[in-house]
Amino acid sequence: MKEFDARLKEVVDRFGTPSYVYFTEAIDSRIADIQAAFGKRFALSYAVKCNPNPGLLKWLSQRIEFVDVSSIGEFRLAKHAGWGPAQASFTGPGKREVEIAEAIENDIGELIIENVREAKIANKVAGEFGRRQNVLIRLAPSFVPKGFGDHMAGRPSPFGIDVEEAREQVPEIVALPNLSVIGFHIYSGTQCLNPEAVCENYRVFLSVFREVCQLNNIVPQKLIFGSGLGIPYHHGDTPLNLEDIADGICTEIEEFCAEARFSDTRLILELGRYLVGEAGFFLTSVVNIKESRGQRIAICDGGMNNHLPASGHFGMVIHRNYKMHVLGESGDAEKVNLVGPLCTSIDRLGNAVSLPRLNEGDVVALHCSGAYGLTASPINFISHPHPNEVLFEKSNIVDVTRDGFTDRY
Ligand SMILES: Cc1ncc(COP(=O)(O)O)c(C=O)c1O
Repeated sequence: MKEFDARLKEVVDRFGTPSYVYFTEAIDSRIADIQAAFGKRFALSYAVKCNPNPGLLKWLSQRIEFVDVSSIGEFRLAKHAGWGPAQASFTGPGKREVEIAEAIENDIGELIIENVREAKIANKVAGEFGRRQNVLIRLAPSFVPKGFGDHMAGRPSPFGIDVEEAREQVPEIVALPNLSVIGFHIYSGTQCLNPEAVCENYRVFLSVFREVCQLNNIVPQKLIFGSGLGIPYHHGDTPLNLEDIADGICTEIEEFCAEARFSDTRLILELGRYLVGEAGFFLTSVVNIKESRGQRIAICDGGMNNHLPASGHFGMVIHRNYKMHVLGESGDAEKVNLVGPLCTSIDRLGNAVSLPRLNEGDVVALHCSGAYGLTASPINFISHPHPNEVLFEKSNIVDVTRDGFTDRY
């Protein structure tokens, strides 16, 4: 990580802290890695939810073919960033009629239909616009292999149509006159670091897709695979080896694509954190050091208000420290508790972290912060200024702090 330090320091000097920094070269190399592992088998779709920063979206829109949005706000952001509406798909289990209407009126590529109610609303709205709307149906498999950080299927879940119900519900949707079912979508698990489990999951997808397409006699234009690819947030995590995944699944994917029904189908890998997570750092400065009853506590200027996931309150059962380092410091490590500025004991960025001795003014860089960082955080709690956001395109710094985030010190 030291290779980024000079540029992180430059951000601190120019913008101060707290700041998020995103390195585009790291995203570029991720895109290249995926292409190298999977060849042209998969097109990519970026899930805006993981980082909707407009500057980052603009950069990504020139490099990633498709975009997945989960609210009408994300759809507007994606269009503004440069994706055409036809490149967008719209997931989410609680779409409201006004959102569906705006999406259809603005020529969204596909609605990802998560339930029959939503399909009926989309059918009605499309009819009112005199359109036939392309849709993909989201399916929830009955099984998700062990190894995923979060499951959206394989148990009771609000997402998609449970495969057990698909035999009855898919034909109901297919029969709606103003919708055209052009494919299927599965996103059943995220944050997996086990290549075997990723392959096993994709095998489940292939079998579900095959079965539902045969049963309904659909020749799909698109099939969306929720990637599930994870990143190594914590010490001891082993980064995913994409080659292992490719070795484990590519033959089966080739065979699938060789079947007449799927020979013209586009396979799309939908993902967020694997593309941008490791490209981002969160920088926070030590405001004060307190020695308290034998423990050293470093109080920082940005905490869970800026980075909820690092505080462990975004789906983590037991807090595990994000990987982090101190800018420009390399002395002997000692244990320190890292907390944010909020008046609550749950505002902790690190428990007993081993870092070089911290002093007031030191800057700590949290790794793996490019996805589910600021967007997943309660930034208004206790009304601290919003953090800066900076995009580093090679040596070029672009201030991409969001509109409305201007009340800086
Ligand atoms: C439908 C859907 N697509 C994409 C994603 C992005 O997941 P990740 O950032 O883990 O790749 C999620 C994550 O929850 C999701 O629910």
